[in-house]
Amino acid sequence: MIDLTPLESLYDAVDGTPVDVPADLAALYGDFRVRSGHPDRPHVISNFVSTLDGVVSLNLPGQSGGGEISGFNRHDRMVMGILRAVADAVVVGAGTLRAVPHHLWTPEYVFSELGASYRQLRRAVGKSGEPLNVIVTALGELDLDLPVFQSDAISTLIVTTEPGLNRIRERTIPPSVTVRAVADTFPIQPSEVLAAIVSVRPSSLVLVEGGPKLFGDFVAARRVDELFLTVAPQIAGRDDDGRPGLVAGRVFAPGSPTWARLVSLKRASDHLFLRYALPTD
Ligand SMILES: NC(=O)c1ccc[n+]([C@@H]2O[C@H](COP(=O)([O-])OP(=O)(O)OC[C@H]3O[C@@H](n4cnc5c(N)ncnc54)[C@H](OP(=O)(O)O)[C@@H]3O)[C@@H](O)[C@H]2O)c1
Repeated sequence: MIDLTPLESLYDAVDGTPVDVPADLAALYGDFRVRSGHPDRPHVISNFVSTLDGVVSLNLPGQSGGGEISGFNRHDRMVMGILRAVADAVVVGAGTLRAVPHHLWTPEYVFSELGASYRQLRRAVGKSGEPLNVIVTALGELDLDLPVFQSDAISTLIVTTEPGLNRIRERTIPPSVTVRAVADTFPIQPSEVLAAIVSVRPSSLVLVEGGPKLFGDFVAARRVDELFLTVAPQIAGRDDDGRPGLVAGRVFAPGSPTWARLVSLKRASDHLFLRYALPTD
């Protein structure tokens, strides 16, 4: 049995389809339901961890990942693994890949001890193998020697622009990697990202793990159905150091504020685990 206390459920208004979660994950997370509702596109969920003062990256060399924000919190990693396990595809922007270049966006990568349970959960939602890893880049300046492109265990999709495709084609594209040019210029529309994903792998649930630039574009396009947000009990502070919040490059309030509806709240000690529904088209 894994050495982790169960999340304490403080509020739960989640509708949707109950998932047959393996006993150990059910004991840790509680009831897990998957929501849906768009006949013409996948349901899109997003997952972030933020400090109390809204910082999602310390933006320091070697210390710009989510671990420094969560305090390498094991409950946060356990939840990340569940969300990856139920997703057909996990999407990140190239900035996030540059921050954690050796990462693989699989459930087991974030919590290896629960690997067997995640695989069981994945089978329970009718999915096999690993989620498609998706990298969004306009420039196409990617190191194709990184594990996300070289691993035999995962398939990776690069969604880019025509100039980005030309840059990527200057190198040898590994066999597990598919490249789709879906736009001439930056930014690529989230609807184009989703269409490219579906063209490679039929998908009912897509997980966007950020970062702030990509997430902002998805929110602006009203393509994020739910946000799973971990609030870590630290105050990181900001100066003129480029520390991003949840959204970068987009302004919503006061002109077009985006209000969310709380659907679930859990806690583990001083960390909070929020699940919000966002307005979408
Ligand atoms: N705390 C958390 O939960 C969390 C989660 C994720 C990321 N982060 C952190 O956030 C930081 C990165 O922030 P970021 O805003 O740079 O992340 P990002 O959105 O992952 O990366 C931005 C880059 O991704 C590409 N991109 C994003 N949206 C695009 C679009 N619509 N069309 C075309 N290309 C697009 C562009 O790549 P090109 O420059 O290649 O064209 C852009 O420069 C890192 O420190 C990371 O660790 C934190």
